[in-house]
Amino acid sequence: MPAFSDTRAAAHAPPARVGDPTGERLRGTGSAHGKAILIGEHAVVYGRAAIALPVHSLRVRAEAVRTAQAGLLVSDLYTGAFDAAPARLAPTVTAARATLEALGTREQIELRVHSGIPPERGVGSSAAVAAAVVAAVAAAFGIVFDDGRHHELVQVAERAAHGTPSGLDARAVRAAGPIWFRSGETAALPVGATFAFVIADSGVPGRTGEAVRGVRALREADPARVDHVIASLGVLAEAARGQLSDGDVPGLGAAMDEAHDLLDGLGLGDPALQRLVRAARGAGASGAKLTGGGRGGCVLVLAPDAADAPRLACALTGAGAAAVWTSTLEATA
Ligand code: PMV
Repeated sequence: MPAFSDTRAAAHAPPARVGDPTGERLRGTGSAHGKAILIGEHAVVYGRAAIALPVHSLRVRAEAVRTAQAGLLVSDLYTGAFDAAPARLAPTVTAARATLEALGTREQIELRVHSGIPPERGVGSSAAVAAAVVAAVAAAFGIVFDDGRHHELVQVAERAAHGTPSGLDARAVRAAGPIWFRSGETAALPVGATFAFVIADSGVPGRTGEAVRGVRALREADPARVDHVIASLGVLAEAARGQLSDGDVPGLGAAMDEAHDLLDGLGLGDPALQRLVRAARGAGASGAKLTGGGRGGCVLVLAPDAADAPRLACALTGAGAAAVWTSTLEATA
């Protein structure tokens, strides 16, 4: 499989280091999109494979303007000095500072961030914000980082957000299509048919760091059981790769159902998630599972056919979803 490479987040950036007589390049922009984990969350932390999907309808945009003043953040959540930013924005400030450091500049920036991705819902908010910020800050200095360098800077911010991120989110928020991820290695996945997904927000904040620590504690207490579950999730991810490329919607749905039950058995469920999963299955979904860290956040639902997605979205809203989004994978050539 070819190694995946996508420079989408830096798409607005100017070419690297060219002269700038007009001062135009004192400003840079960047963007990234949301993601949903199809299969393999948590197991990926233990070296198993995972698959993530882009959610292009969820997007973050960042703009950086070079300044001689102190760093300033302007966002929907906070406007003020970097130094006084609330703890929940630490990853955003970390992304900006790590990028300035990587650029080797003593200049500061005024950073504007507009995010349409709800935070703490397992749909990639923190990684997408970091990816957009890294691209915007670099672009303000006329630089486009290569993929590896960009990824590493996003991971610095992700560590501020979650402690020990696998790197899956950081890759998925910049990928144009579904990605296969294992032990830091990423590859674009072929898709054999249209797969229509609905993502439903339970309204309950996900707690990724806490959930990851919970699985670790469970594994220390009962390594045989937890390792068996992790291995089973890895097997499901392998199967899902084949189901995606074969266009096997029922097979993938069954794998998602199985993954949900395994994750639920690791204590990652929540009554609100369970209600949405039940509603989706009751409304004829091919499969439904929690997505991301769990203990809140979102569910990912696979429609039997793209035409069924609006009906499933209605059923999920009726069952109490705070928001729903769709993500459709088209068959690759
Ligand atoms: O909740 P999210 O979207 O940040 O996803 C976390 C995925 C985990 O596998 C639980 C952790 C990780 O670092 O991959």
